[in-house]
Amino acid sequence: MVLSSLHSSRLKYVSLGVLVLQTTSLVLTMRYSRTLKDDGPRYLASTAVVSAEVLKIFACSLLVLMENNFSVRAMNQLLKEEIVKRPAETMKLAIPAGIYTLQNNLLYVALSNLDAATYQVTYQLKILTTALFSVSMLGRRLGLYQWLSLLILMAGVTLVQWPTESEGDSEQKILSAGSQFVGLMAVLMACVSSGFAGVYFEKILKGTKQSVWVRNIQLGLFGFVFGLVGMLVYDGQRVKQSGIFQGYNTITCTVVVLQALGGLVIAVVIKYADNILKGFATSLSIITSALISYFLLEDFNPTSIFFLGSMLVIAATFLYGYECKPPSSSTIKV
Ligand code: C5P
Repeated sequence: MVLSSLHSSRLKYVSLGVLVLQTTSLVLTMRYSRTLKDDGPRYLASTAVVSAEVLKIFACSLLVLMENNFSVRAMNQLLKEEIVKRPAETMKLAIPAGIYTLQNNLLYVALSNLDAATYQVTYQLKILTTALFSVSMLGRRLGLYQWLSLLILMAGVTLVQWPTESEGDSEQKILSAGSQFVGLMAVLMACVSSGFAGVYFEKILKGTKQSVWVRNIQLGLFGFVFGLVGMLVYDGQRVKQSGIFQGYNTITCTVVVLQALGGLVIAVVIKYADNILKGFATSLSIITSALISYFLLEDFNPTSIFFLGSMLVIAATFLYGYECKPPSSSTIKV
């Protein structure tokens, strides 16, 4: 019992650390892939989403195989029992998968109508929506310090991503008020969907003893179907003409692998930590990618506002963890 709780605790921190690294490398690789000038057609984002789902399902199947001592027969039996013979349980995963697909599309709408900085700052609201859904759907109790740390985190992340005048001004002039409104609505809906889908998945994972990898296969299967429909609707013609893997290069493959890895790590984080801590890990990764941009890529100049924001994020992370362990008298139920 003590050993298993030690194991869970270690998995919690290892998975959070890996999530920081994964998010950081995904952001940097995506930025690099955007600035890379290559001959030939550009890869289709909708096909990358489908490829990542396929890779995720494949990786999760391998992990289930490992859990079953590499017995293909035992794995097939388990997947049949858990996925095919329990359609009601499997169907539950259609909800978060559908919401995540919608969310990924909403973010696309948001990024087409808002400048990147406004988008990133506003999307941080998902930390609060996640906390609210955790409290209302999971009955989680947050201490006073934890609520406070969430507010400090929001303030810190907002400062970290505060647009510098030059980039904000030029882009702002181009974007009309109408398009700003559409973008803002899309990102706000994505915040609600991110909080709800994450907490719904957490409820499913923590409510049953089923393996996290089996759950992820169920989620991935729906994600694959929805992603495929999206691909055919948006890019059907182009896929017919030049194939699914048009424009793929090493960088594209790296982005797909990192995205699939993200799905695996997020599932482990949700299982062994929680969605709110996941928000903290992503906030820390904003700072690590900025540091790498400054020291290695030399394409970023931190301001004093950025420095202050970083300090607030780090302080909030410690404050949240401080009250996390023993439930104390200052715990409030909302
Ligand atoms: O912004 P947010 O943290 O809500 O994004 C979560 C992302 O992780 C979504 O794009 C979703 O498709 C993906 N995900 C996943 N596997 C899970 C949970 C989330 O691929 N088990």
